[in-house]
Amino acid sequence: MENKNDIVIVSAVRTPFSKFDGAMRDIPSIDLGTMVMKEVIERVGIKPEEVEEINYGSCIPAEFALEFDVPARQATLLAGFPPENISLTLDRACCSSLTALRLCIRAIKAGEVEIAMAVGSENMSRTPHLAPGARWGTRLGHIRLFDPLFELGYKSKGFNPVSVDAGEVALEYGVTREMQDQWGFESQQRYTNAYSEEKFKIGEELMPVVIPQKKGDPIVIEKDESPRVTSLGALAKLQTIYGSPTVTAGNAPPMNAGASAILIMIRKKAEEKGLKPLATIVTSICSAMAPRYIASVPALTIQKALNMANLTIDDMDLIEINEAFAAMPLVSTKILANGDEKKWNGLREKTNVNGGAIAIGHPVGASGARITMTLAYELRRRGGGYGVAAICGGLAQGEAIILKVCRERE
Ligand SMILES: CC(C)(COP(=O)(O)OP(=O)(O)OC[C@H]1O[C@@H](n2cnc3c(N)ncnc32)[C@H](O)[C@@H]1OP(=O)(O)O)[C@@H](O)C(=O)NCCC(=O)NCCS
Repeated sequence: MENKNDIVIVSAVRTPFSKFDGAMRDIPSIDLGTMVMKEVIERVGIKPEEVEEINYGSCIPAEFALEFDVPARQATLLAGFPPENISLTLDRACCSSLTALRLCIRAIKAGEVEIAMAVGSENMSRTPHLAPGARWGTRLGHIRLFDPLFELGYKSKGFNPVSVDAGEVALEYGVTREMQDQWGFESQQRYTNAYSEEKFKIGEELMPVVIPQKKGDPIVIEKDESPRVTSLGALAKLQTIYGSPTVTAGNAPPMNAGASAILIMIRKKAEEKGLKPLATIVTSICSAMAPRYIASVPALTIQKALNMANLTIDDMDLIEINEAFAAMPLVSTKILANGDEKKWNGLREKTNVNGGAIAIGHPVGASGARITMTLAYELRRRGGGYGVAAICGGLAQGEAIILKVCRERE
């Protein structure tokens, strides 16, 4: 039953995800954020001054540091939002844009605002090398450059690269390298099928990115750049990365540039404005575990969200679990199946039905909002139902959101 006080998604959009060293390589994440913020309100005729709060996730501060700080505030002003707009930049690693959405939901629930926007933006290609020590000089010896993208881990503080933790825990759960390669292969295939069915066409989750050129016509990016044709044989030949027992470039996502934005409001406001919601937010929640359990944390977070909503995993028509690596959806669906092999197969079937980050890409801070909108649009295509989206982030943090799209006769 619909309730006037439900919180609903009225608009959701993302840029195509550009590959490492791809066409969007040099566009600051702040500019990508600006693009989606403008588009997500224009699509539904909302004026910038009507959006009362903007939460903006980004998780590679070295990249936006090139523009100094507060990317949320900068992007908000550049996108034409009034100076009085309230915004927050936040970093909860890959969870960031879903955390941004949860904070928007919380602000509406608290009665502080009626319309809020969650944004995520990242450009991994533009991450600079850092030169620690360069400011004060080196008394004796070389000045070293440091690459924040190398190993994508927290090694300097004694934590493992994420790929090591994920691979080791996957093996503990009986999720082998072959199973992870199979998942990587299927992610690419599912994306290819979804693309040919025009599920990733401009106007639904995707907007074009126009890159002006010094001479001649601008370049227009209209599709994700990372999906690739592969085979199980080719995947099996790839070397594992960073000392992980199972993770390779083929069962991991690439490093991408992209941004995503979701506009939410209270249902009665949407009705006043004559807007048809894309989905109703049932609940959203976060969690955390011991750092090495990053592959299991989506399962824990999904279970927590289901308990809160008094639902079970069997009530979910679709599941999105971010493919931080193939290990995450595999381990997490196995935990959710609770040892039941048949149930595990069934959960895998309905997880990431249009492919996931391995094919689409993973511009880390933007992915939480991406999986949420991919879920919402697919539920709508199928005529409605329940779905859950979950993502893990640095050192085993988790976010999950449950959506409902009403069936016509409900
Ligand atoms: C895995 C990773 C290190 C690879 O980086 P890269 O070396 O620049 O990636 P490439 O696209 O060049 O792929 C490496 C090789 O694998 C091959 N490859 C990649 N995907 C493949 C696939 N699906 N099938 C077959 N071969 C594939 C490439 O062709 C390339 O081969 P080459 O060396 O012979 O040219 C990088 O993408 C990465 O760190 N990803 C994980 C990001 C991450 O951790 N995100 C956060 C999660 S918490």
